Amino acid sequence: MNVHDSEKIAGILCKEGYVPADDPGTADLIIFNTCSIRQKAEQKFFSELGRTKSLKKKNPRLKIAVAGCIAQQQQDAIFRRAPHVDFIFGPQSLHRVNDLIRGVSHTAFDEDNPLMADSELPVLRKAGGRAWVSIMYGCNNFCSYCIVPYTRGRERSRPSENILREVEQLAQSGFKEVTLLGQNVNSYSHDTDFPGLLNKINSVTGIERIRFVTSHPRDLSEKLIRAMSEFDKVCEHIHVPLQSGSSKVLNLMNRGYSFDDYRGKIDMLRNAMKNLSITTDIIVGFPGETDDDHKDTMKALKEIEFDGVFAFKYSTRPRTAAASMDDHSDAIKSQRLREILDIQDGITLKLNKNLENSILEILVEGISENDSTMLTGRTRTNKIVNFRGNSSHITSIMKVKIVKARKHSLLGSLV
Ligand code: 5AD
Ligand code: SF4
Repeated sequence: MNVHDSEKIAGILCKEGYVPADDPGTADLIIFNTCSIRQKAEQKFFSELGRTKSLKKKNPRLKIAVAGCIAQQQQDAIFRRAPHVDFIFGPQSLHRVNDLIRGVSHTAFDEDNPLMADSELPVLRKAGGRAWVSIMYGCNNFCSYCIVPYTRGRERSRPSENILREVEQLAQSGFKEVTLLGQNVNSYSHDTDFPGLLNKINSVTGIERIRFVTSHPRDLSEKLIRAMSEFDKVCEHIHVPLQSGSSKVLNLMNRGYSFDDYRGKIDMLRNAMKNLSITTDIIVGFPGETDDDHKDTMKALKEIEFDGVFAFKYSTRPRTAAASMDDHSDAIKSQRLREILDIQDGITLKLNKNLENSILEILVEGISENDSTMLTGRTRTNKIVNFRGNSSHITSIMKVKIVKARKHSLLGSLV
């Protein structure tokens, strides 16, 4: 979400005649687009921001801005700690970037701005065949650990006509895959619902793959599962954050489902689609999580066998309900995180090994970061595959035979 916001900020600036600089030392404008989902990101940001002070001394024309969720929450602290910052704007005020660079104001913050959901912001995307498309903004769920509803405001969906127009333009510019973005895409609601939106996008010529993030387990409906299995372009992958395998902890987290409810949704998904890949998010060390609760999460991972897990140590966030609860020590959280990752690594490798010798369709995204002689792309199930090929294949869909499974990627050979 945050990276896509950066693409929008860059899109607005490009329209104004700005061009990307090669490095911060040669830039006339530096914008930090911040994330505050966990505290670690905040700490990193403040130390990076401190470093720009000397750049400004060298280049007095340099303007420095702070955007994103930290900006939304801590505007006073940012101006106090870093007086060299010129302007600050929140994640719901991207459309006002123009005003800021023209010096109209030093801050722009909009709460629940419906205009932003309706406005058509230009987007500067990297080539590579895949594009993110926002379908809704904000979140109404107030999970007790989460800062998002406080920084991104209430849910607002974009009109389907606008989304469809953007997807059609992407197809015309050669993009083959779209990932529909929202904090809780299942509750997309405007002139149609989320399955209705998938239906419309499924008919766009040139788009071959449709993905979406993130799905809330509580709102994952039978209608959506049917739509996923019926619409040929919707990929066989879903990210459904579980957060904890303990129903007691899920209740403390205000997630609105028990582990059994979650399990039921996974069964429904797997009954509807064979070869479906399922990934999830886990938070370890939530306040009140006992050893037994943690064991329930490990048991859940073994039982469900996710294709991949993003696991995080619980991080206290200001204003959230969980901020007043007793936090665990970092040592306990680190230990639990290690245990979760160890279990999951084994499961991911086992599932990846099942793919050895199969021939899969890969959308080629670019040159591999680790080895410049290799191309990299993804299967429909969202697994990364590296293989030797020609750079003219980038943005094409190719058939690749999987020759070796690794923990975080697959090695393939072009068929
Ligand atoms: N601490 C740790 N992880 C968090 N997440 C959200 N808020 C927090 C927090 N305060 C995780 C959740 C969510 C993912 C995007 O980030 O697992 O699904
Ligand atoms: Fe945060 Fe919960 Fe909303 Fe996800 S659903 S953004 S975790 S409040």
